[in-house]
Formats: sequence, structure tokens, C-alpha cells
Amino acid sequence: MCGIVGAVAQRNVVSILVEGLRRLEYRGYDSCGVAALAGDRLERARSVARVADLAAQVEQSGLGGETAIAHTRWATHGAPVTVNAHPIFSCDEIALVHNGIIENHEALREELRGQGYEFVSQTDTEVIAHLVHLLLKNHAAGDLFKAVRLATKRLHGAYAIAVFRKQEPHHVVGARAGSPLVVGLGNGENFLASDALALAGTTDQFIYLEEGDVAELTLDGVNIVDRDDAPAQREVRTVTAYSGAVDLGPYRHYMQKEIFEQPRAIADTMEGVAAITPELFGAKAADTLGRVDSLLILACGTSYYSGLTAKYWLESIARIPTQVEVASEYRYRDSVPNPNALVVVISQSGETADTMAALQHAQSLGHQHTLAVCNVATSAMVRQTALHYLTRAGTEIGVASTKAFTTQLAALFLLTLTLAKLRGHLDAAQEENYLTRLRHLPAALNSVLALEPQIIAWADEFARKDNALFLGRGLHYPIALEGALKLKEISYIHAEAYPAGELKHGPLALVTEAMPVVTVAPNDTLVEKLKSNMQEVRARGGQLYVFADADTHIGNGDGIHVIRMPEHYGPLSPILHVVPLQLLAYHTACARGTDVDKPRNLAKSVTVE
Ligand code: F6R
Repeated sequence: MCGIVGAVAQRNVVSILVEGLRRLEYRGYDSCGVAALAGDRLERARSVARVADLAAQVEQSGLGGETAIAHTRWATHGAPVTVNAHPIFSCDEIALVHNGIIENHEALREELRGQGYEFVSQTDTEVIAHLVHLLLKNHAAGDLFKAVRLATKRLHGAYAIAVFRKQEPHHVVGARAGSPLVVGLGNGENFLASDALALAGTTDQFIYLEEGDVAELTLDGVNIVDRDDAPAQREVRTVTAYSGAVDLGPYRHYMQKEIFEQPRAIADTMEGVAAITPELFGAKAADTLGRVDSLLILACGTSYYSGLTAKYWLESIARIPTQVEVASEYRYRDSVPNPNALVVVISQSGETADTMAALQHAQSLGHQHTLAVCNVATSAMVRQTALHYLTRAGTEIGVASTKAFTTQLAALFLLTLTLAKLRGHLDAAQEENYLTRLRHLPAALNSVLALEPQIIAWADEFARKDNALFLGRGLHYPIALEGALKLKEISYIHAEAYPAGELKHGPLALVTEAMPVVTVAPNDTLVEKLKSNMQEVRARGGQLYVFADADTHIGNGDGIHVIRMPEHYGPLSPILHVVPLQLLAYHTACARGTDVDKPRNLAKSVTVE
């Protein structure tokens, strides 16, 4: 999604902002721009190509200034063309960047047209710029901070904005509601960004703005008011976690790096877990977790698939009824709330708009027991839930989620064990056994990662295909779904996943010799049933690509290609089986030459609906 960086300093900040945009590229974008106050003029450069192109334009034109804002845009209203790229100007006086969607932009546009404003872009953002300009003139007596506060009260929807005015050097105002924005504190200089990562190396002191906050940055400091215009004191946090996150090391792409970071990410996520106890989820978790009678899991995309996997664990190990819903559906569905349910939101970013809205919807229906599984400690989702478990995957830069998924699974397994113990379904021996398995996961993951050369050989074949099917059963059906999602989002090959037993109810019609069928084949209780489903595929000429555990007795044969996984890993097997599917998608995309870390049309942190 869109990325914002802004600064006031006593040095030229444009190159810092462009570097910040480069670090925000992972969020996904289709155009970018930067505006600076050059003397008494607003100047800007915009590009519908990559940030590298913007940097070249800046260098060529000599664009610079001590007050500046910059933006990567992921188009929502209006095509990704230069005129819609931010910063957006109003009357050659105001420069503004925005992340989010203004839902009442049409009504505001009409009102502003009535006041004589002309619109040159198709963006919803332009209404904010003109609104700030109008309020500045008519109601704020030239006070930009006040004008922004008044303007935000007129906006419906989600926004993070940064704005400056040509008459006020060294003054930038930011505001957020529904989209993230952090303040970076420097020495005689201050910054704004969508993500602290953008400012790594420039400052490690950050204030995470809260919903409805408006902040003004000057050289001397930062002044923040809350949604009621009351002065707000916000905690200053030292964030050093980003060092190393942007270095690729020996890897070609962040996605590959992040796949290989999974043993470390799981170990970090498990660090300090000596025993299964409710306190893993917060100091006051025992009361809530001991009381709830069911789970309602809400998430999107890959995080939704981790929730689907957890449902199998929660129902079979903790014996607790579990419902998993796509957040964007749940938020608009007429559902029957159960106040005794634990609402679990799962999110890498903790900022996904649909998941946040689903959480708020659940709370509005009377759900009080809430828990977040999240990778970002400072995120809105963590702040808005009573309990949480922080995955320690580290910054995930590749748009396609990998290490966030496996760490979510580890956290959800801990939640399963905690509920199982509280409900009397986990004795001391089982607890120790599961904990031992969890602790050995990093080593088991390393042996799966060692399969990479064999997977590369398959990827070369997949790269020539137009379609693929993924099959799994039981606990591994969500893993098949995740494998198909990974392949389609980065290689652009059409891929679908089915529970293998469902094949003959429709998708078998698609199977021909041209159809590769990826099969997740753990040595579990369903393996014999799965083998029958594989025969159904072979009988129609389909080519099977099987990730089979040892002892499944599935061997290479005519039309059956097998990569042998390490021994069966019991209920934790999905955490191992997803890894070769990530690698298959990654190497297939590399063979097809796609932009692996920034696949077309996708964004990392989906902060709009
Ligand atoms: C796919 C992917 C997305 C995200 C989804 C939710 O690889 O990354 O499907 O999982 O957009 O994002 P978070 O987990 O940040 O809420």
C-alpha cells in the first residue's frame, strides 16, 4: 500500500526521503513522488516507474529542500499516471501525500468545486489538499496545524497524511486514522513515515501515532493532539530491530532470504517459552482463556490460511469449537455473536484494514475477549486487543508472506496447547513432548530447506505451465491453499487448491497431461485416501508432483515425481510442508523472470478495503 515519508531539517532531506521510499517499496506501489520547499516555491518530481527512476529525476533536476514529503502510491482512485501520483498540490500552496481511502470524496469534491476549486487528478487525495487549503483561508487564519485538524474532522474513511505549505518552511503536519504513521525524532530535525523501516539509519527514536492523532513537526520538536484536539503525550520508543532487514546478504530476493530465515524466526518466536501457560498471551490471560467456550478467527490471505490450519489443531487437540472467517466477509455479514467466544485476529502487519474492521465489528457486537497474533508490536491490532502473541519473524519485506506464516502457525500451536491444558486435554507428558517438537522445528526446517536444488529442477518445468492444481487433505488442505496462493501471486500461474477428496466433485474435469498436480503427502491417517486421489489424477494423464514424507511408500514412477520430505512431524507437519511450496513458487517465479518481491498489482500491507 502507499508509503509516506516526510521531514523537516536544516539540511537537504530529499535524498533521505527517496531512500525512505526505496525501503517502503516492499509495501507495493505503482507510482511515486517527492515534493520539497525550494526557497519560496513548491517543487516536485513524480514517476510512474520505480523509485530508482524518481531518484534519477531528482538528481538530474537538483530538486532539494529542508522541508519535504514523499510518497509511493498504490492506485485506488484513478489510474497510476503522473497526474495522479502524489504529492498532490492545492493552489500551488499546499503539498500533500495520503495513504488510505476517503469514502466521502465525491460529496467533498462537489462542495469544493462550488468553492471554485479545480480538480486535475482523479484521486480522492486531491479533495484533502483543497479542503486543507480552503480551511486554512477561511477558518484557520493561516494556521496549517489547525486547518489539518479541521479537515480531518470532515473525512470519512482511512487516512495517513503528511502536508506542508509553501509559506511555512520547517513545518510539516501529519495525521492518521486507519492507516499507519510514525514520527521519527532527530536532533534538530524530525520525520514522518508509514513504517519506521523507512527511517532506519536516520533515527531510532519513534512515536507511533494513535488513531485520530494530528502531529506538527518543526525543527525543535513535535506537537501532538488527539482526536478531541487535546494535547497528547505519546511514548517515545527506541526501535533498532531494522538493522540488517534491508541487507539481502547472499540471496537474490527478500522472499528467498525470508524463506531461509524461517528456522531463526521460529526459534525467536519460541524464545522464552519454557512451559505452556496462559501468561504467554498476556499477564491477565488466564481468566479469559479459561473462560472462553469457542474461537472466532478473523484474518485475510495467508494469515487466513494459518487460521484455517489452527482450526484443525484447536478442535482436535484443545477440543474447542473454532470458526475461521475471511475478515472482509465477516465485517459485512449478519452473524450471531457469542460473547463467550475468543476473537482471534491474525496479521503479519497488524494494520490490514479488513482485519482491523472485522475486529472492530466483532467488538461492536459485544465480543470482549480478543487476542491478536501479530508480527508488529506497535501495530493498531495489538493495541486494540486485550491479549496478544507477538511472532518474532523480523521485518518481512517480500510482498509474499513466508516467515510470517510459519511463525503464526507456531504461535497458534502454542495457543492450542494453552487452551488444551486449561480444558484438561493436555497432560504433563504430552506438554513436554509437544514442546520438544516445537524446539526441534528449526532443525527440521533446515533439513527441508536443503531440498532446494531438487525443487529448482521442478520449478523449471512449472515455469512453462499456465495452470496448476494443489491437493492436500485434513490439516494439509490449508497448506495446499497457501501453496497455490504463493504460486499465483508471484509467478502469475493460475493455481487452485482443493481438498483431495473433492477432486472428483468437479476439478477432475481440468486434469489433462498438461496439468501439474502438486500433492502434499504427509504420512498421516489420510495418506491411503490421498493415494487413491492421486490414482484418479494419474488415470486422466495428470502429472503428479508429490512432497511425500518418508514411509508413505510413494515413489517416483510414470507421471509421478516425488521429493522426499524428512520424517513425519505429527501435528506440526504443516509448518514443514509449506516450505517446499514456498520454494517452488519462488523458483518458478524466478524462472519466469517476474518481479518476485514486488508482484504486479499487490501490496504488502493492505491498509485500504
Ligand atoms: C500473501 C500475503 C497476503 C497477506 C494478507 C494479510 O502472500 O502476504 O495474503 O497475508 O494481505 O496481511 P496481514 O497478515 O498483514 O494482515
